[in-house]
Amino acid sequence: MIHAAPIIQPTKVIHFSQVSKRYPNGYEALKNVSFEIAEGEMIFLTGHSGAGKSTLLKLIAAIERPNSGSVVVKGQNIATLKAGAIPFLRRNLGLIFQDHKLLFDRSVFDNVILPLQICGFEHRESTKRVRAALDKVGLLKREKSNPITLSGGEQQRLCIARAIVNRPAILLADEPTGNLDSDYANEILSIFKSFNQVGVTLLIATHDENVLQQFSGRTLALVHGSLTPESAAQAITGASNLGNLGKLR
Ligand SMILES: Nc1ncnc2c1ncn2[C@@H]1O[C@H](COP(=O)(O)OP(=O)(O)O)[C@@H](O)[C@H]1O
Ligand SMILES: [Mg+2]
Repeated sequence: MIHAAPIIQPTKVIHFSQVSKRYPNGYEALKNVSFEIAEGEMIFLTGHSGAGKSTLLKLIAAIERPNSGSVVVKGQNIATLKAGAIPFLRRNLGLIFQDHKLLFDRSVFDNVILPLQICGFEHRESTKRVRAALDKVGLLKREKSNPITLSGGEQQRLCIARAIVNRPAILLADEPTGNLDSDYANEILSIFKSFNQVGVTLLIATHDENVLQQFSGRTLALVHGSLTPESAAQAITGASNLGNLGKLR
């Protein structure tokens, strides 16, 4: 008797189904967008300025809500999520967003511990996690510094440490190399790659050609709020070979 090999379906962690987002002024920033992302993927979200990249990331984090369609993140539908459930959703997410500024009235260490204090972590455990996060981004020796004394690349690495100190399963980054020269951008990219290697799912919005040239995995490309036909064809996990995803050349 021949037994078929079991087909192991990758777990979907993010699933957009026919999602549209219209802002109160009537502007339709996303139009009928469908795709899924499996656990452990590293994906770049590309597109011109105004294409809808930030809007898409904000929908995943429940900063914005869709007007139609469903956005399911770790099994929870953002479209119907009660406000009280948002903090629980966000525990799964690390956010590296441009409007999440560093605080210059306190040290590197104190910037990173803040999210843990908000969640009510015990001090000894928090300290351990902060040092581990700073170590991962190569800033452990700067823990007592004021962030204003850090270079642009170091400040961005600090933002990453703050986003991962909670040990999120999913990392969302909005133009994380936007204002950095290519050496710094490459450092950031290899940090992301190291997170991906330990199983973190990453969705990174960028229009940085230098970054994209080094990436051979799946990309989702937006044009005026819609996925391009090429991206739409690859929008379902498994349509391309998972084993090749998340690899930097
Ligand atoms: N809060 C808002 N109100 C109205 N329009 C918005 C708002 N946020 C974004 N937009 C518009 O939606 C479109 C997509 O924006 P965004 O998602 O920021 O694109 P990207 O990140 O790709 O540059 C843009 O035309 C932008 O002006
Ligand atoms: Mg943007």
